[in-house]
Amino acid sequence: MEPRLLYSLAADAILMVHAAFVVFVILGLALTLIGKRRAWQWVRNPWFRLTHLVAIGVVVLQAWLGALCPLTAWEMALREKAGDVVYTDSFIAYWLHRLLYYQAPAWLFLLVYTLFGGLVLLSWIWIRPRPFGRQGHRDAKPNQLSRREAQTHSDVLEAPGVHLRPTQPSDFAFVCTAESAPENRRNIELWSRADHLACIDREDCSHLIIEDDEAEPVGYVILQGLTSAERDMLLRRIVITRKGEGIGRRAVEAIIRLCFDTLGFRRLWLEVHADNTSARQLYERLGFRVETVHQSDTAPSAMVRMALLAGDHQSETPPEPPASP
Ligand SMILES: CC(C)(COP(=O)(O)OP(=O)(O)OC[C@H]1O[C@@H](n2cnc3c(N)ncnc32)[C@H](O)[C@@H]1OP(=O)(O)O)[C@@H](O)C(=O)NCCC(=O)NCCS
Repeated sequence: MEPRLLYSLAADAILMVHAAFVVFVILGLALTLIGKRRAWQWVRNPWFRLTHLVAIGVVVLQAWLGALCPLTAWEMALREKAGDVVYTDSFIAYWLHRLLYYQAPAWLFLLVYTLFGGLVLLSWIWIRPRPFGRQGHRDAKPNQLSRREAQTHSDVLEAPGVHLRPTQPSDFAFVCTAESAPENRRNIELWSRADHLACIDREDCSHLIIEDDEAEPVGYVILQGLTSAERDMLLRRIVITRKGEGIGRRAVEAIIRLCFDTLGFRRLWLEVHADNTSARQLYERLGFRVETVHQSDTAPSAMVRMALLAGDHQSETPPEPPASP
């Protein structure tokens, strides 16, 4: 191949990388904003957000220093060697150039880049990335529920403002603090860290953290019986730390969808203290019926067993209407 043509191709390749960089910077912020509304967990991935922040940071810094982007410098050098003056021979080069290097005063570029960089910085406050090393439910290591049909579950275990993800050992401080808070511990049995760890490791259990839109933990839930041959799932425990905001309701609704619509279970059941009015009301409103009431050996008040059966649950995807004759 002719060296001039090679230089020209290399310059086109750099131009495309440059365009991809610009698209990443612009789309990165747009998708982060859309992701907040649509509760996409990946927009809170700290590596994605850091890369994006560094990318716009470099652009802003260059603009303030009045330096030429190295990609532009390399491209121009290659074009000079290739003898390219105009871009009539390359459709991509012509259009990318028109898009990337449109004419405007330098101060306008400086202003736009700075404002854009400011917006990206602000998005770190408004749409907080997860701390490094903590995994969201979409990119968590497979465990418990996510081991089976992980993708389906991640979609199901979401509701507006409520996201459920597998509990990690780093969440235990939150779990134990929530559990031992006076307003919670009178209604549930206190577990040690070791109990929670053992639960995470059990094949038939799912230990999930409930997060809000800001990826802040606002509760946790424990499901049991995932491997039950009878297709009976036990809602072993739910604790919400920000009460009265509808989080408990939305979390239990997500669990109901998971239990019946996704996993095809037959029954979802639980036991609640007879005097735990708020929890009982929550379950009743979601269609749970009392099955038995019995005196517990460990709890001072009676325990009420409540259950929701597959037949009583209104699936969100109604069955197909019968074909017309
Ligand atoms: C029970 C619990 C999970 C409810 O979570 P929550 O996020 O506060 O509940 P929500 O805001 O979603 O409310 C949902 C429904 O619960 C009921 N409810 C919630 N708080 C209530 C209260 N203080 N009094 C009466 N009913 C209440 C209502 O029926 C409410 O429906 P409504 O908003 O239409 O009136 C939460 O209070 C909690 O963690 N309690 C301590 C631990 C516990 O008891 N767990 C259950 C063990 S079985």
